[in-house]
Amino acid sequence: MKVDVILGLQWGDEGKGKIVDVFTPRYDIIARFQGGPNAGHTIIFGGKKYVLHTIPSGIFHLKTQNVIGNGVIIDPFILFREIDTLRDAGMQPEANLLVSKRAHLIMPSHRLLDMVLEAEKGKSKIGSTLKGIGPTYTDKYGRNGLRVGNILEPGFDGRYELLKNEHLETIRSHGFTNEQYLLDGLTFEAYEKKWFESIIRLKSLQIIDSEIFLNESLDHGKSVLAEGAQGTMLDVDFGSYPFVTSSNTITAGVCAGLGISPHRIGNVYGIFKAYCTRVGSGPFPTELNDRDGEEMRVRGHEFGSTTGRPRRCGWLDLPALKYSIMLNGVNSLIMMKADVLNPFPSIKICTDYRVGSEVLENFPFDLDNEHLHPVYKEMQGWSTDLDDCKTIADIPGALGDYLKYIENETGLPVDILSIGPDRVQTLQR
Ligand code: GDP
Ligand code: IMO
Ligand code: MG
Repeated sequence: MKVDVILGLQWGDEGKGKIVDVFTPRYDIIARFQGGPNAGHTIIFGGKKYVLHTIPSGIFHLKTQNVIGNGVIIDPFILFREIDTLRDAGMQPEANLLVSKRAHLIMPSHRLLDMVLEAEKGKSKIGSTLKGIGPTYTDKYGRNGLRVGNILEPGFDGRYELLKNEHLETIRSHGFTNEQYLLDGLTFEAYEKKWFESIIRLKSLQIIDSEIFLNESLDHGKSVLAEGAQGTMLDVDFGSYPFVTSSNTITAGVCAGLGISPHRIGNVYGIFKAYCTRVGSGPFPTELNDRDGEEMRVRGHEFGSTTGRPRRCGWLDLPALKYSIMLNGVNSLIMMKADVLNPFPSIKICTDYRVGSEVLENFPFDLDNEHLHPVYKEMQGWSTDLDDCKTIADIPGALGDYLKYIENETGLPVDILSIGPDRVQTLQR
């Protein structure tokens, strides 16, 4: 068996959580391969809304196992807050959740460092979610990090203290102190206490060699779906650097983040919104600072699932979408949030980027260029709601034309169209 992949083709928040949940009944295992609690994946069914940050979005289906892979970074405090929220809703997430021994731990002092380093950047800040993502991946690649497997070994507390003291020293050398900051409303000491309580609880979860578990499961004919976090335009290598996250969000990240050989990658489903959003700083060529952008934000409830910040909105960006498709080897497209554009009398799509009078042939090295302008094609809107559509065959002609245009430009089928946040508002071909 092969590993299918679902990942975002834009700047995150494409609706990955919803689609992973919809796809879960087809799979035995759902596995997150990168990122951490910077992610916020929303799932809505039965009139209830759940937002997952670390737990894979297959958790609502009891027959499916959910793996937090080695490429993910975990804040145990946030993980158990999620687990407790699901337990309060009557579920037992520990029963079908597995955690890689090799996943790195986000320490309270990583979160402090994230805040200090962002504060120092001033106007050029990344707009990080301040969950400690950058500093934790820095320690991983600097070969200083603490991994989940280490909590089962003697000497964990000593290693923690050593690394924490290094972080606090760095913070002091930048002219800050840990008393200046609250972590989720708690002082550093109070957060640290809860973090250690969560470490004790973490020991009771199923901690495994997830690369062995996944490869053996594939050998035994089990099906696996890898769930991405963030989006391709936030990838540390190919995104709008430096305004990116600190992991590889692309298909290649599945191999390193789960221990899967490239030969074992199957279908790659690329998710995009019918328009674009971005939260945090950084270039966004098709951004709208007008009433259209505001209407997208209001109709699409475009406020961050993790931080609550308003998301920036703009038209669909085909140069970025095509670049993402190339990097990921996408073979099936999923378009989300078509319903948000229902009332728009006309809809624009960015077909190319122009610098001066020159239309760029390739996706540029640096999107952050004041001379870079989007070239738009204008299409008629569908100006009707989509509530009665049961399959893609039922959609209004103008929406069909919009899809056809995207399919022609990308050379890929749009196999799924989402017309609302609920599980059931999902149209298939
Ligand atoms: P993720 O990070 O990719 O999982 O996406 P988020 O959950 O952060 O953001 C997607 C938002 O759009 C959530 O609030 C979803 O409930 C919502 N959503 C998903 N699909 C649709 C859709 O087709 N239409 C509308 N109106 N909302 C959707
Ligand atoms: P999901 O999985 C949207 C953005 C942040 C910031 C940049 C770096 O829900 O799609 P970080 O905390 O990683 O240091 O922030 O990346 N960002 C996201 N934007 N969706 C996400 O995840 C994001 N995760 C990080 O806003 O601009
Ligand atoms: Mg999100």
